[in-house]
Amino acid sequence: MLLSLLILALPGQSASERPHKPITLSSTGGFTIGGRTIPAPSNPNLTLSCDHGYMEYFLPLRPRKTSLVMWHSSSTQVWQNTWSGGPGFKDLFLQRDYPVYLWDGPHVGRANWPCSPTLNLPTSTDATNFLAWNFGPSYKEWWPDVRFPTHDAAAWHQATSARYIEYETKANVDLHARAAATAADSGSAGTNIVYLTNSAAGLRAQLAATLSATTNIKAIVAYESIGFVYPDSANVTAGVGGFGPYVVSGAQFRKLAAVPAVLFVWGDHRGEGFGSLAESRRVAGLINEVGGNARVVKLGEVGVRGATHVPFADLGNEDVAELLEGFLEGEGLDGYVDGEGEGE
Ligand SMILES: *[C@@H]1O[C@H](CO)[C@@H](O)[C@H](O)[C@H]1NC(C)=O
Ligand SMILES: *[C@@H]1O[C@H](CO)[C@@H](O)[C@H](O)[C@H]1NC(C)=O
Repeated sequence: MLLSLLILALPGQSASERPHKPITLSSTGGFTIGGRTIPAPSNPNLTLSCDHGYMEYFLPLRPRKTSLVMWHSSSTQVWQNTWSGGPGFKDLFLQRDYPVYLWDGPHVGRANWPCSPTLNLPTSTDATNFLAWNFGPSYKEWWPDVRFPTHDAAAWHQATSARYIEYETKANVDLHARAAATAADSGSAGTNIVYLTNSAAGLRAQLAATLSATTNIKAIVAYESIGFVYPDSANVTAGVGGFGPYVVSGAQFRKLAAVPAVLFVWGDHRGEGFGSLAESRRVAGLINEVGGNARVVKLGEVGVRGATHVPFADLGNEDVAELLEGFLEGEGLDGYVDGEGEGE
């Protein structure tokens, strides 16, 4: 108690970043999943195993039934800590007894063994990161209420350098979606999966749901999804790049709608004119038209101000975590494996 009071008094650390109960795990580890093994052109006896994804897992001693698969499009680091190094969603949900999986899709992070050549041309990504993550209206001009330690140069350096190379191509979206569908169907991340996504991972998760052959995907919670999946009846022209729109058959779209809950979450620095927000409203409507359960939540309307593009990594992310916790409870996804009541 004394310790937590002392920590509360430290400047720069908000109450919402105070340490919580200890995390008790039964095991941690990781595995690759999906991908292909292809023969070498010169000698079919020599092969390359490639295009797989990678899961790192953390299993609580007394787990709930639902696995939270944390799916970045920027870096798994954004799930591990806040911008100031406080506990990220990984720890906040391990403390809440949810099994946590950190997912690297094919070619990124710890799954960077591709079947085909890849190309990265270094460019001034710091500026594009600043804008893409919506820290402010222009480079180094922070939103006045932004939940980022704006005066901490080291925090900014951590944020921008923790980002991974991304491949924003249609081929990469397809590859990620197939690997994530395989991962979900395999049961290796459990049979009750919530895909928690950020940014362009939202498109990949929607598409994964259309490709999945099981009912293991129980929800998609997409923070600031960029890119959406539409049924071919929606009169939408498919995009050719990595941000959609994707157009799928009615039967495939109904598989997305069959995911028991879909939640699109936006920070308050996104106006209604922001294209992806408007798309999320339309797609939620299309999902619901065929019997699904999709919603759009603007964090500014539920008391969370100053969110960035990565709300779960923001200072004070505990309130964003509480909203997710409430969603999981509301959808009946909070039960324990041992079937007992709340163990807090
Ligand atoms: C591949 O392996 C088979 C069986 O061992 C062998 O007969 C064949 O010569 C090998 N091919 C090459 C190109 O080394
Ligand atoms: C489909 O979209 C095109 C292009 O936006 C538009 O001209 C056309 O009227 C639309 N058709 C229907 C049936 O809504």
